[in-house]
Amino acid sequence: MKTKNQSVKTMKSVVLMTLCAAPVVLLIGAAHSPSRSETARIARGKYLVDYGGCNDCHTPLKMTDQGPQPDLSRMLSGHPESVELPPPELKAGPWFAATAGMTAWTGPWGISYASNLTPDTNTGMGIWTWEMFRKAMRTGKHMGDGRDILPPMPWRSLKALSDEDLKAVFAYLRSIPPLSNRVPEPVGPKGPVSYQ
Ligand code: HEC
Repeated sequence: MKTKNQSVKTMKSVVLMTLCAAPVVLLIGAAHSPSRSETARIARGKYLVDYGGCNDCHTPLKMTDQGPQPDLSRMLSGHPESVELPPPELKAGPWFAATAGMTAWTGPWGISYASNLTPDTNTGMGIWTWEMFRKAMRTGKHMGDGRDILPPMPWRSLKALSDEDLKAVFAYLRSIPPLSNRVPEPVGPKGPVSYQ
């Protein structure tokens, strides 16, 4: 059995060891903090993307035994390039329509196709900078300074996010697998138009 004195000694050395180790732990922590905070930012971005319903429109649905499910092998890659659509033939009225995959819509604005949000360089958002993303989501202009972003893209909901949260969404989108899928250009109410 330890005497009282021995116990106090042991405690003292434990305290000493902890105190000595603390700066080392802090130093190691500091060296790794950028990647740790980046990981946290990406996790926050995934949380916001999941809650924000981005997959509902930017990930095509596939038919399964359990009914329509998001096709995660094409996660956030937008309207499939292989699915061509005829020109809209909607009569004037209060309706608008979506494709079965939920990635293209037709209404008074023509046809809009959900964009490829993956970091693919040629067909996705690989060339987008944070500044372009911030401007696009804050102003509703294509790539930050082009044509108007068409319905039903809820850019006004993203506009409500803080810069920090918007950065997290962007960081997450950059972290997902790049998928090559060239989404068609939108079509105006009277046929193809240059929206550039
Ligand atoms: C209700 C369907 C819908 C939802 C939900 C949705 N989007 Fe979109 N999104 C679209 C459509 C359609 C387009 C293409 C619009 C166009 O061509 O103008 C688009 C385009 C975009 C673009 C490209 C904008 C540009 O400058 O051309 C980005 C970036 C984007 N969405 C991000 C997101 C993110 C992030 C979320 C989730 C928070 C999200 N979207 C949720 C339908 C949606």
